[in-house]
Amino acid sequence: MWRVKSLDAILATAQKKSLHRSLGPIQLTLLGVGAIIGTGIFVLTAAASQKAGPGMMFSFIIAGAVCAVAALCYSELAAMAPVSGSAYTYTYAVMGELLAWMVGWALILEYAVAASAVSVGWSGYVLGLIENALHFDWPDLLQAGPTWSMNGFMPSPDFSAGIINVPAIIVALAVTALLMIGTTESARVNAILVAIKVAALTAFVVLTLPLIKSGNFSPFAPNGWFGPEGSSGMGIVGAAASIFFAYVGFDAVSTAAEETKNPQRNVPIGLIGSLAICTVFYLLVAAGAVGAIGAQPVLGPDGAAVQPGSPGFTAACAMAQNASQLVCSNEALAHVLREINFPAVGNALGIAAMLALPSVILMMIYGQTRIFFVMARDGLLPESFAKVHPKWKTPYIVTAFTGIAVAIAGALFPVGQLADISNSGTLFAFFMVSLAVMILRVKEPGRHRPFRTPLVWIIAPISAAGCAFLFWNLPHDAKMVLPIWGGIGLVIYLLYGYRKSHLGRGRVEVHEQDADLPPPPATT
Ligand code: ALA
Repeated sequence: MWRVKSLDAILATAQKKSLHRSLGPIQLTLLGVGAIIGTGIFVLTAAASQKAGPGMMFSFIIAGAVCAVAALCYSELAAMAPVSGSAYTYTYAVMGELLAWMVGWALILEYAVAASAVSVGWSGYVLGLIENALHFDWPDLLQAGPTWSMNGFMPSPDFSAGIINVPAIIVALAVTALLMIGTTESARVNAILVAIKVAALTAFVVLTLPLIKSGNFSPFAPNGWFGPEGSSGMGIVGAAASIFFAYVGFDAVSTAAEETKNPQRNVPIGLIGSLAICTVFYLLVAAGAVGAIGAQPVLGPDGAAVQPGSPGFTAACAMAQNASQLVCSNEALAHVLREINFPAVGNALGIAAMLALPSVILMMIYGQTRIFFVMARDGLLPESFAKVHPKWKTPYIVTAFTGIAVAIAGALFPVGQLADISNSGTLFAFFMVSLAVMILRVKEPGRHRPFRTPLVWIIAPISAAGCAFLFWNLPHDAKMVLPIWGGIGLVIYLLYGYRKSHLGRGRVEVHEQDADLPPPPATT
């Protein structure tokens, strides 16, 4: 189970498909911005305020900094082995099959659960539009899934927020249907969607910044750095662990390394550029939201801030005096605009989110199917998983399977919990990538690296430590999902993958095409 897939075999696959090197630094940066901006800023700003209060502005900086160092590590491997499967494939080459399987298994949390989170975020905005612009009263029971708390080892649902999130199911299944019939996003559509997102955030900043009141920033950190004694995932650092979600997607830049002119120079520009632009936007948006209407957490009966997405939080937000609080809104940015008397712009921002968020869902489900596909190709998952439809030319079985799972999770969980679970998988994968970069520098120092992580012996340890630190500060339940999920994965590997692995059976394939799939959704 420690067998490694030789990097040469992986590279032989990659070299067979020679992609045209056409991307420059500006296109790469735009690609990153397009992949990054989504539910994180549009929706999770509310949950971050509940955790940190106005101090969430620091949370955005901390999460952005961890992403920046992780991105530099990611890029070295992405540029060296530009193949599908990203962190899974790199780990296979460096740390062996078992850990690769565990990373691939964790990436399911990253991609599929993130797709569910964005579906729920989309639902919040669409319901806001239905109620505020169309004045239609959508049934409460069908607007959100239950909230969950752990009763010992048993999850127990609370249905006061709702029973099932119908709009989240609809958007997840609609995007899945598009992917099954082979829709890939065109470059032009993506450029338009990026413009819409950026325009919406810019309008928000322009309207809110002049209304900033300094009083709204105090107390600045009502829950301190780490939250009150006995809480988990609260405070500025807890909010950073959650808002990390807002930056996920920058790996799109690393994976485009093979299509980049002069990757040594342009990949870091694209990565750091897109992260920097998003960080500045996020800070301005956060400052505008906090400064215009305030962002203090709502409190439970004991006077302590309640965990967002918990039954106690639903109860606190149901109280009349909290109805207009930022932290209670499912459509944070539109809510702020309505509160400051720009209802029409609030609705327009809602429409922008409604149009642009599905492309994030599409990228996430697509990424997930690609990882399943590569794992099935390596024999670690049943090959029938990777079956390609004769007419649509898509891996329709795995796409349908993924889409249904995404829809179910979106139907039954609140957005913040989904984002936290997604973060736990992503942070694990980035942690492994940070280790892999260092191991490979020692094991194969002479190998050609189109991009080298600068100051690798400083950056990579900081990245590994930063990922571990953020993981540690996730809420307890989200943190527990990773070992439980990992345990299930381990059992499946021992029962299935260990015996069926192509590598284990002595088959090292070089594929004519990296994946027999249509091209990935174009992102420039
Ligand atoms: N960064 C992406 C978002 O916030 C995943 O939706």
